[in-house]
Amino acid sequence: MSRAIVLAAGKGTRMKSKQPKVLHDLCGRPMLWYVLEALRATGIEQIVVVANEELKPQLGEFGVTCVVQTPQRGTGHAVQVALEALEPRNATLVVAYGDMPLVDATIFEDVQAAVDADAGTALGLVTARMPLPSNFGRVVRNGAMIEKIVEFRDATTAEREIDEMNAGIYAFDERALRAVIGKLNDKNAQGELYLTDTVSLLVGASYRCVPVQALDYRLVLGVNDRVELSTARATMNERLCHAHMRNGVTIVDPATTYLEPGIFIGNDTIIEPNTSIGGNSVLGERTRIGPNSRLYNARLDDDVRITESVVLDTSVGARTTIGPFAHLRQGNVVGADVSIGDYVELKNTRMAAGAKANHLAYLGDATVGEKANIGAGTITCNYDGVHKYPTTIGRNAFIGSNSSLVAPVTVGDGASTGAGTVVIRDVPGGDRVVGNPARSIGAKKAPST
Ligand code: UD1
Ligand code: CA
Repeated sequence: MSRAIVLAAGKGTRMKSKQPKVLHDLCGRPMLWYVLEALRATGIEQIVVVANEELKPQLGEFGVTCVVQTPQRGTGHAVQVALEALEPRNATLVVAYGDMPLVDATIFEDVQAAVDADAGTALGLVTARMPLPSNFGRVVRNGAMIEKIVEFRDATTAEREIDEMNAGIYAFDERALRAVIGKLNDKNAQGELYLTDTVSLLVGASYRCVPVQALDYRLVLGVNDRVELSTARATMNERLCHAHMRNGVTIVDPATTYLEPGIFIGNDTIIEPNTSIGGNSVLGERTRIGPNSRLYNARLDDDVRITESVVLDTSVGARTTIGPFAHLRQGNVVGADVSIGDYVELKNTRMAAGAKANHLAYLGDATVGEKANIGAGTITCNYDGVHKYPTTIGRNAFIGSNSSLVAPVTVGDGASTGAGTVVIRDVPGGDRVVGNPARSIGAKKAPST
């Protein structure tokens, strides 16, 4: 069983946050999540996260082993603490930092492949060429091999000119690592035990440390403050947008389209600018979303059109149109060929196929039958200040403008309410009611022949 150690106990001082750095959000997931995903994709089975006291209780959902490091005396100290908690093995051990969410699985695969304990290669280290200036640790080479790593703060002027950086991804021969890890000292600018010093210790013990160059330095950028967080978010978002575009989705403006991992978008869907789609959203084919829309946990069938609207925790049937300026929140089930127009709010409501609510309405805890028409200004009065009550509107019902339906109440199939009606009692199917409180004016007569 292959193992990895992920360091995440640092104070994250530069974030200036009460929240642990690795839990800061990046496109809908905590930063740490991306690192763990990439590691798991390479077959790593056990991941030990080195955490501080604040982070530990929040690691439950990640499926990792947690080791607490207090006080935090540096990255080398963090690995010492993790190794004490692990049964020693003669195997490759990956060490990565939890603050580099843009890594992909390929990097972890390549670095593991570089270790060869039998041939004396005790460390594969990911390096990246980067534009200067940079605060990354500098990789000092001896020919094709790494001689040592110098932290930026400890580097000489000449060393600061080196543009090959320590990415913070290591694959160690665990036995060699254990042999040197106790020898770290804190005689450096930060007074910390640096994991990076294991390189010169290994070289001193006649092991080889090989560089594994990342193809693109942007994949290994660490996030240390909120400026770097926004840079990482832009990169991740671009990556997500590109993946969907290559998969047959038109994104008019990737720079203002915000996607999360784990969403599905069908072919020939068009996403207009300034739109975000997240959670477990699944979009069918040929849907058209935006501009200025937000979807979260939305399940859309084919050919749905959503304009300048918010759709949360809602499923929507084929060909339905929503917006502009509609707000569908929390547990709606909207059928096919439904029309929901401007300034309509739906909460926990079912609208059957062909129903319409084209302007200015609040439908909460309601069930609307097939082809029912909800007039402008219709309100389901679902809340009496203490409890919520349901409203049922039958098939082909016609709710006149500015009707108030005081729940619990049912308006039967084919029934209608006049403009401004306040419905406080059930209306039988086919009946017509008007006024406040609503009174029957009898069923509509069949046209005389
Ligand atoms: C580190 C590297 C540097 C490299 C850079 C890449 C060291 C000494 N330096 O610098 O060479 O170029 O990453 O991004 O390793 N952490 C702990 N316990 C501690 C200290 C840190 O778990 O006591 C964790 C942090 O939470 C973080 C990671 O280790 O996830 C790296 O620490 P950070 O302080 O960000 O190191 P850098 O200064 O970025
Ligand atoms: Ca860092």
